[in-house]
Amino acid sequence: MNLQHKNILLGISGGIASYKACELVRRLRDAGAEVRVVMTDNATRFITPLTLQALSGHPVRVSLWDENHEAAMGHIELARWADAILIAPASADVMARLAAGMADDLLTTLCLASEAPMLLAPAMNRIMWAHPATQANAQTLHQRGASILGPAAGSQACGETGEGRMLEAVDLVKQLADVLACRVDKRSASTLHGKRVVITAGATREAIDPVRFISNRSSGRMGYAVAEAARDAGAEVVLISGVTHLPTPPGIRRIDVETALQMRTAVLQAMPCDIFIATAAVADYRPADPATQKIKKHADTLSIELIKNPDILSEVAALERRPFSVGFAAETEHLLEHARDKLQRKNLDLIAANRVGEGLAFDQLDNALSVLWADGQIELAHTDKSTLARQLIQIITERLESHA
Ligand code: PMT
Repeated sequence: MNLQHKNILLGISGGIASYKACELVRRLRDAGAEVRVVMTDNATRFITPLTLQALSGHPVRVSLWDENHEAAMGHIELARWADAILIAPASADVMARLAAGMADDLLTTLCLASEAPMLLAPAMNRIMWAHPATQANAQTLHQRGASILGPAAGSQACGETGEGRMLEAVDLVKQLADVLACRVDKRSASTLHGKRVVITAGATREAIDPVRFISNRSSGRMGYAVAEAARDAGAEVVLISGVTHLPTPPGIRRIDVETALQMRTAVLQAMPCDIFIATAAVADYRPADPATQKIKKHADTLSIELIKNPDILSEVAALERRPFSVGFAAETEHLLEHARDKLQRKNLDLIAANRVGEGLAFDQLDNALSVLWADGQIELAHTDKSTLARQLIQIITERLESHA
């Protein structure tokens, strides 16, 4: 992990996990970073500024109104100085204040005044983390470009067990290094530098009633791997994700959706883009009239009328400002025949076909792809989805160049 010559502003908010910030400062400095610490007032109740001053080698800032510090490295200078702002632990309170755009202490003011990437490592009681208010705040911050690192699940200081533990220092340093490396890649001449890529991933869910839905076995892994590969190639990536348990890859803007109709709206709102890659397994049909109350099991048989969902990929490929359009085809039989038919019918530039079966495609770590375009085809052999995603992005880049 290399953070040589990186200026990291470590924000510490109030919570029992603030003791872990000591280890974090050590690890950041071991990785070569210059670290300045800003604490909230509440954080100083858990751990002293003196400890962090000794560990970071710099005075610790707490107040916006500290005349000595404002004369030396004022809050605006500190905001400009930072290559990244990492808030660890990020309490529910600091996340709420940041989501609301408040600037009521030094840390939140700095965040508002800085263009540096912001990373938050939430740490709180599991019920506080799961609360819709906290989830909405995390989502808001994420949609504005912040990376939410964790939290992890496990036993908590409050005696409960669940999701809400701050990630370990070593994991935070690694994720921070990844985010900064992506930005360096982006600035250098990488293959998709300057391109905006929109990717759909995972399964959609179509409600039958308030508790049941129709869905499929897509885990989202293939789409998330493609998103990471596009990001690593220097693209700005928007990932429109169906329901999945996967964490958001650093440096990627993720928009969560549930139904095919929501996915369609999110995709169309994300246009225009240079490349659209549809890896999602979108439900072709949805219940025509979902029940508003739970369906009771009185009858021996039950029929649900289904109506067709709009085809998102076809719609995007038919836009006037049409992106380079890439589809996926998951087939149980006649793989190449069906894939070539979809390539033509949906007016695509490229299609990646995968055979559904033992150890392949849906909900698997590995896959194999046949990549087809109008006058060509490449076979990508069975391997992990990250490797396949990188190979696919390479092919897309080459085809895009010959397309231009
Ligand atoms: O998520 P994983 O577990 O990693 O699994 C990966 C995967 C198997 C889901 C992925 O590799 C894959 O094949 N995705 C496409 C799945 C599929 O069922 O495609 P399709 O043949 O139904 O649709 C063809 C294309 O049209 C796809 O690009 C699909 O995203 C798109 N489509 C389909 C229907 C619809 N209403 N709108 C669409 O945009």
